[in-house]
Amino acid sequence: MNLELSEEQLAVRDAAREFAKSELLPGVIDRDETQTFPTEQIKMLGELGFMGMMVDPKYGGSGMDTVSYVLAMEELSKIDASASVCVSVNNSLVCWGIEKFGSEEQKQKYLIPLASGKKIGAFCLSEPEAGSDATSQSTTAIDKGDHYLLNGTKNWITNGGTASYYVVIAQTDVEKGHKGINAFIVEQDWEGFMVGAKENKLGIRGSDTHTIMFQDVKVPKENRIGEDGFGFKFAMKVLSGGRIGIASQALGIASGAYELALAYSQERKAFGKEISQHQAIAFKLADMATDIEASRLLCLKAAYQKDAGENFDQASAMAKLFASSTAMKHTVEAVQIHGGYGFVKEYHVERLMRDAKITQIYEGTSEVQKIVISRNLLKG
Ligand code: CAA
Repeated sequence: MNLELSEEQLAVRDAAREFAKSELLPGVIDRDETQTFPTEQIKMLGELGFMGMMVDPKYGGSGMDTVSYVLAMEELSKIDASASVCVSVNNSLVCWGIEKFGSEEQKQKYLIPLASGKKIGAFCLSEPEAGSDATSQSTTAIDKGDHYLLNGTKNWITNGGTASYYVVIAQTDVEKGHKGINAFIVEQDWEGFMVGAKENKLGIRGSDTHTIMFQDVKVPKENRIGEDGFGFKFAMKVLSGGRIGIASQALGIASGAYELALAYSQERKAFGKEISQHQAIAFKLADMATDIEASRLLCLKAAYQKDAGENFDQASAMAKLFASSTAMKHTVEAVQIHGGYGFVKEYHVERLMRDAKITQIYEGTSEVQKIVISRNLLKG
């Protein structure tokens, strides 16, 4: 693993940083308050090539590596984790899955608009009773010859009300367990496709999270991704990549809160000196900086492994486990360092603290990451 970033990678990081400051920061508090999706900003991110970062330019993408994706996700998430989860789901769970496992026809029809940011994608796995236990799908897709008939309900779907194309995981043969699960590309305007109520959330309130329902939706055979029965492994592989995105989001939330706390502690005076000069605060800053650096290195290691074509399942789970707990722990500390100011919206750290929590839950809870890590360790 090369610890030195290339000029191209640094340029991507700087572009994301600049975009976050100039386009995401204004209005972020209001979007959080009013649960408003950053429509214009996501459109601009698409035009700048951030919605299909790792996709081959022949399919409308930017042809960048996963390391650049980690750097961009950190910068966007420092300011607006609601925008960055939309970027992460579109890049990792939707575009990467279709590019890696989809047919040429699927790439032409769906990947090109998704990777170029003209359309937004969503990933539908979770159900009312299938969150961590992903094999227990109750959504069914029954083989009807030239099409599948899709029925069921999916919960907590990021980009649920704004996406045009949905990657949907469903059970096609309950007798076969995980080998009876398939993944399909479903279009939002097909008959029987319904978007339920928007969730009123603790954090990432600007992101668009809905229940999605399917009632006798006819899905053409050619919209199944991969061979019959490949859906569960597809979901696991795609989530492994997705966890690099969410780990980087957690890293950004933590480093955003740290930067605010560091600046505040050098301005605010108490007991005759800047509060950063009090050891109680200085030690907090040291712990924050150390955990953030370790999170960044774990994210970059997973990205390097993915870019090198190596197995990155364990590395991505470790990155997500550590970075999400760092985000939770240190956003709380950032609020503490700000004292009373940390508890009011204008100082941003309370939002980052609320946003941090979801990184320990979605794309696999911390407990799921420990299952993935321990199984990989025991496999040797
Ligand atoms: N790559 C390829 N194959 C894999 C794999 C991987 N990473 N992980 C597992 N598999 C294979 C296994 O080898 C096994 O295949 P064989 O039977 O042929 O050997 C098969 O898949 C079943 O694997 P397991 O027995 O390990 O499956 P399990 O039922 O014990 O599940 C689990 C393990 C890790 C808990 C898994 O269910 C899981 O990851 N759950 C969490 C799901 C999740 O992340 N949900 C979040 C929803 S998406 C979301 O949040 C998006 C959003 O909106 C932001």
